[in-house]
Amino acid sequence: MTSVSDAGRVIVFDTTMRDGEQSPGASMSHDEKLELAKILEEMGVDVIEAGFPIASNGDFEAVRAISQIVTESTVCGLARAAAADIDRCAEAIRPAKRGRIHTFISTSPVHMKWKLQMEPEAVLEAITASVSRARNHTDDVEWSAEDATRTEREFLYRAVEAAIRAGARTINLPDTVGYSYPEEYANLFRDVIAKVPGADEVIFSAHCHNDLGLAVANSIAAVQGGARQVEVAVNGIGERAGNAALEEIVMALKVRGEDLGFGTGVEPIHITRASRYVSAITGFPVQFNKAIVGKNAFAHESGIHQDGMLKNAETYEIMKPEDVGQGATNLVMGKHSGRHAFREKLKALGYELGQNALNEAFVRFKDLADKKKHVFDDDIIALVDDALARG
Ligand code: KIV
Ligand code: ZN
Repeated sequence: MTSVSDAGRVIVFDTTMRDGEQSPGASMSHDEKLELAKILEEMGVDVIEAGFPIASNGDFEAVRAISQIVTESTVCGLARAAAADIDRCAEAIRPAKRGRIHTFISTSPVHMKWKLQMEPEAVLEAITASVSRARNHTDDVEWSAEDATRTEREFLYRAVEAAIRAGARTINLPDTVGYSYPEEYANLFRDVIAKVPGADEVIFSAHCHNDLGLAVANSIAAVQGGARQVEVAVNGIGERAGNAALEEIVMALKVRGEDLGFGTGVEPIHITRASRYVSAITGFPVQFNKAIVGKNAFAHESGIHQDGMLKNAETYEIMKPEDVGQGATNLVMGKHSGRHAFREKLKALGYELGQNALNEAFVRFKDLADKKKHVFDDDIIALVDDALARG
């Protein structure tokens, strides 16, 4: 486990199977969800949001089955602010050693007017009723102000106060449409925590969408503003442009956590396995340049970078690929590679060439690399063997 003081420990809430599965085409089978839950638990994820039990029988069964097998993480289900949703969710999480009901309602003017078609006062009443109902089932209730970042501040204070009074233990202020800037989002947490009575008794949570590519930056800013839970998904999957990526948040808090004074309990070594598994079951490829888990995240092709890496890996890597289960640094042989990396590659392939032979082989390698996108080990072997055979 990453060692961080309790004050700096950020709770990792994974929503790969709920918000992540809501991304079009990302559905997962029952057995795949169970397997993923085991991986997340082994990683040290604190809360697993396993689904939206009222959405379908399949979701209900998955949340229930995960509640039966997971013992270390809290298992959570989502519910709208409606009695039937909350009761169904409670039934699904009942077998869990630690179960959470996560209930939500929109608080922004645009959502209340067009989506809910409810007056603000009626929304406040629904918050009290839904959180109280959830609390009758379990002590662990999370309440979310959907579209919090586009909510009028004074109304948000009243909504959060109503949720706390009704017994919510975690208050989530989602950036539902990925609209916020980091500083603005941090200030939202600072303001709510400072202004709402009872705020010091609950955990605040950040839930960020990536519509402007700011989900991870906003989540880290929220932590700086007082949030102590971050809601994430493996590979950043989720509605539209996705949620904050679990692997990026965990590593940002690992690599820079000491400076920030925060960390998580997630073991990074399992990150690549989780990423590959989610990619395989959803069929969503991981982009090559994706931070932490992309194929190129620890690959170097330019001669200058390869030379630096061969002298000291800290020149161009801020974390070790082995630490996130990525295998080893990959010095890719291509047209940008330099002589130093080429010599090391030959050594690794079992060749020790004299200076002249090395120079000649290097020229031939550069010629080949200019013509070919990928120069494989076999290409280099063929090229050197040919040069050696010709004397
Ligand atoms: O993005 C969002 O607001 C949500 C809530 C249900 C928490 O996913
Ligand atoms: Zn969401």
